[in-house]
Amino acid sequence: MKKIPRKKLEIFYNVDSFEIKTVKDLHEKCKSIKWSRYFSEKQTFKVLAHFSNQKEIERKSPFKNSLYAAQVVKDGIADSFRDDGLGRPNVELEFPQIQVSLHLTLGAQGTLKASLSFDLCLDPLSNRNHRTKYALAPMRENLAASLVMEMFPLEKKEEWKNQTVIDSMSGGGNFILEFLMMKYDVPPSWPKLKALIEQKRNQFALFNVTTFRTKENLAVWKKITEDLYGQTRKNLPRTLDENVRAYDLDMRAIKSIRESLEGFFGATIIRVERADATKIKKMHEEETGVIFCNPPYGVRLGDEEELEKLYEEYGENLKNNFKNFTAYIFTQHAQLRKKISLRTSSRKAFYNGPLECRLLEYRLF
Ligand SMILES: C[S@@+](CC[C@H](N)C(=O)[O-])C[C@H]1O[C@@H](n2cnc3c(N)ncnc32)[C@H](O)[C@@H]1O
Repeated sequence: MKKIPRKKLEIFYNVDSFEIKTVKDLHEKCKSIKWSRYFSEKQTFKVLAHFSNQKEIERKSPFKNSLYAAQVVKDGIADSFRDDGLGRPNVELEFPQIQVSLHLTLGAQGTLKASLSFDLCLDPLSNRNHRTKYALAPMRENLAASLVMEMFPLEKKEEWKNQTVIDSMSGGGNFILEFLMMKYDVPPSWPKLKALIEQKRNQFALFNVTTFRTKENLAVWKKITEDLYGQTRKNLPRTLDENVRAYDLDMRAIKSIRESLEGFFGATIIRVERADATKIKKMHEEETGVIFCNPPYGVRLGDEEELEKLYEEYGENLKNNFKNFTAYIFTQHAQLRKKISLRTSSRKAFYNGPLECRLLEYRLF
């Protein structure tokens, strides 16, 4: 099977790129594009503008904010439909059928490079559609995927696929779900793919753009989705995976992980139990593998003193009860991580939204 993308957010289909100096330039250019080739007056649409360097563009260009730039594009599109003797498509901000993106970049001598494209995904690819009703400070799914890929490189799958893997504070379960998807070669779009093939219910927005909906593209899409569906069905685990475990202290989190697993894989395919991560133990003395945790770190949850105690006791438990394991802790909090009296064997920076976090690795002997 081809490599499955797990970290991407959006896919754009380019309409045109050009240089502009004034607001009028952008309006005229948008008006001159024959938008009715790409979508119909009956479809709803939305325009989003992104500035590559927000502050500089707002300071040096006539576009003082991205909402204004989006408005200019929207008016240009409406004028283009009118010039073709057609009605104007309705704007829909929440669930549009068509999303036009304007990307503005500041070039030399104050010119602006504008690029207009369609967002072919609409629903960002990071949405796995298993989003549970309950999760405390969940990490974004594509961040969870990046962490899994860092700890379990695909090219070394033979080495890790039968190892014990534990998420000791799993919250909504994003990390363990991404791990299982990678372990069993399940694409993140699996719920959508299942709906498409089994119920003929399309939740992919890919073909809303008329010019993208060619015979060739549709044929390729049909083959890809059918092959991927068939292959994934074969890959799904049939019995409980005894090597993977998820724990959390909060019963609501446990319930939510079970629901997500059932929604995604059709069953709770791993052990999910309520347990205190500072007290858990290996299943048996010879067990080795990976133990992960994304503890609360105080920015959004938890009280500082209690958290210090939690980090300290968690580190002690790793030292005493997880010999020969590799432990990973993903946290943002520099002070709290010092409470773990173990020597890190590596540390790597990741961003959880605006928060700079570290993935710390400990080899436990
Ligand atoms: C930052 S959240 C984890 C979020 C998770 N990575 C996700 O994406 O949904 C921290 C979790 O640690 C759990 N927790 C806190 N103390 C714990 C303990 N002593 N043992 C087990 N879980 C604990 C909390 O209930 C919470 O669900």
